[in-house]
Amino acid sequence: MAQKHAELFAEIPGCQIVAGVDVAEERLEAFCETYGIGRSFTDLDEAINWGAFDAVSNVTPDAVHYSTTMKLAETGKPIFCEKPLAPSYSQALEMTEAVESRGIVNMVNLRYRGLAVMQKARELAAEGAIGEARHLEAAYLQSWLVGTHWGDWRTEERWLWRLSGAHGSRGVLGDVGIHILDFASFVAGRNPVSIHCRMKAFGKAEGNRIGAYALDANDSFVMSVEFDGGALGVIHASRWATGYANAQKLAVFGTHGALEVWFESEESGLKLCAGEDIHTQTWRAVECPPVPNTYQTFIDAVRGGAPAEPSFRRAAELQHVLDLCFESSERGEGVGVVEGPPTAPIATASVERPD
Ligand SMILES: NC(=O)c1ccc[n+]([C@@H]2O[C@H](COP(=O)([O-])OP(=O)(O)OC[C@H]3O[C@@H](n4cnc5c(N)ncnc54)[C@H](O)[C@@H]3O)[C@@H](O)[C@H]2O)c1
Repeated sequence: MAQKHAELFAEIPGCQIVAGVDVAEERLEAFCETYGIGRSFTDLDEAINWGAFDAVSNVTPDAVHYSTTMKLAETGKPIFCEKPLAPSYSQALEMTEAVESRGIVNMVNLRYRGLAVMQKARELAAEGAIGEARHLEAAYLQSWLVGTHWGDWRTEERWLWRLSGAHGSRGVLGDVGIHILDFASFVAGRNPVSIHCRMKAFGKAEGNRIGAYALDANDSFVMSVEFDGGALGVIHASRWATGYANAQKLAVFGTHGALEVWFESEESGLKLCAGEDIHTQTWRAVECPPVPNTYQTFIDAVRGGAPAEPSFRRAAELQHVLDLCFESSERGEGVGVVEGPPTAPIATASVERPD
């Protein structure tokens, strides 16, 4: 993913990657050479002591975000961190408080926020184009446990850590569940108030272990959700979804319309069924003006020109819901999102009901 960051930050005028940091020296050297990065450090403390940078992008594995970000927060420099912010809500909250208390620009790379279709869908829902949300359906489908299109998970460390709880992974729920939960709740402008989640880690190897990796992290989950405002929704994700490399779909059905967004392999679309079309089930494609990607939004925020959204706080709120999913799955029952952080309303749509 650091390669993606390097490519997309390089496209921003005036933005230059001045150093790379990785504990794996060979990988670091190859990365810096590929992207023409002049300095490299195998120790984060050394990079911090050097200090000749304006902001940091943290693309370490999920379990490493916490320790590295807490150190970086002491520098007072803006931080762009990969999702999920941390493996647990408590760590995500600590990270949030560390940056907020110092007034540090902070943002999490929930990168689908940088899709034109997602921003337009949210705008339509907030304007009341579909009325009040009643029902949502959201899916995030991958198939890297079945196909070899992204490499071989049996031998590659970058996939093995994703399959192991002891290595800080919260499974498909933590990895992409956070994206689809953000996607659904951001577009609908509604936060979850109660959830019921089931998840599974299927057997994948002898003894369900490969080397140091116990393969116990969930690889499929299904969740039913009630949102504030009363809408019900189903959200699910899997790494076993043959035929889909990286696909998302969200449908929001309201009191007088519906919208549907899809994304697959960097292609995306949005369609709407509203007005007189609700009587004929006619869907119309919606034009979506370009929007800045998350990398551009972060740099704009560093330069003081834009809010850094989605923030660490938003990611911590999502993490709270993910933690509750584990609780729900273990107890086999639904749980309310009542003891969580104060959730900021995502949108304040004023919706006129039809007579
Ligand atoms: N936003 C998205 O769409 C998206 C997509 C893919 C991955 N990600 C996220 O990006 C992060 C990285 O994923 P990846 O697939 O690139 O993982 P990866 O395992 O391929 O790469 C992680 C790199 O971090 C290095 N590293 C480990 N510990 C370190 C430390 N203490 N200090 C410095 N470097 C350290 C590793 O050596 C490795 O090179 C994860 O949090 C993942 O969830 C986000």
